Amino acid sequence: MFAVVGGIKGGAGKTIVATNLAVIRAAAGRDVLLVDGDDQESATLWSATRNEVLGGANRLTSIHLTGRGTRDELQRLAAKYDDIIIDVGGRDTTTQRAALTVADILLLPFPPRGPDIWTIEKVTHLVKEVRSVNTGLRALAFLNRADRVGADNAVASALLNEAEGIELLDVRVGDRKAFPNAFSNGLGVGELKRPNPKAVAEMEGLYQALFETVLV
Ligand SMILES: Nc1ncnc2c1ncn2[C@@H]1O[C@H](COP(=O)(O)OP(=O)(O)OP(=O)(O)O)[C@@H](O)[C@H]1O
Ligand SMILES: [Mg+2]
Repeated sequence: MFAVVGGIKGGAGKTIVATNLAVIRAAAGRDVLLVDGDDQESATLWSATRNEVLGGANRLTSIHLTGRGTRDELQRLAAKYDDIIIDVGGRDTTTQRAALTVADILLLPFPPRGPDIWTIEKVTHLVKEVRSVNTGLRALAFLNRADRVGADNAVASALLNEAEGIELLDVRVGDRKAFPNAFSNGLGVGELKRPNPKAVAEMEGLYQALFETVLV
């Protein structure tokens, strides 16, 4: 399976989600490649921190890959790994488009707030354009940094439900400190010494929705 964690808005949670899903997928015994497709290199730094913190245990293979050559390189790598998860930058980049031409899934984290939700239309255009080359691409959105209370989650979900060409996953990842805490330590949220059960359950829920429901 080849998933792009993407979108066109910075800070939506792509890197947090890509790294956590890669950790869970690898723990399930799959040969996973995490690709950092962002020149900010946050996923690469996370990975370097991980290797220091874990001293080689639970190693996850990660590479940095951006630009025009991305498509050919990804196609070559897809034959070598069970799964590829690529984290792209928070804009409509050449790298994201190149990856989407060969991906199975575009996973779209959406915080339920104005600036993020306002990009839905542009994302639907991007998906439509990419589908002219990659007809089978599935675009799956979910709420990240969801609120504990209030109406914003429901408003954002309704807008995503209406968005053409995008499916809304029935999972929510809350706004929880455990995610940045784990990230800063090169870990997935379930690998913290004292894991936050809600954060772990939410990320597992997203994992299951993606790998055990969508991909069956
Ligand atoms: N569910 C969450 N709960 C709490 N904080 C979160 C959550 N998801 C992301 N964050 C925080 O929001 C910020 C942005 O997250 P992240 O870096 O994953 O976004 P991104 O989409 O990769 O950003 P960029 O577009 O810059 O690459 C980070 O500080 C991260 O720790
Ligand atoms: Mg990022």
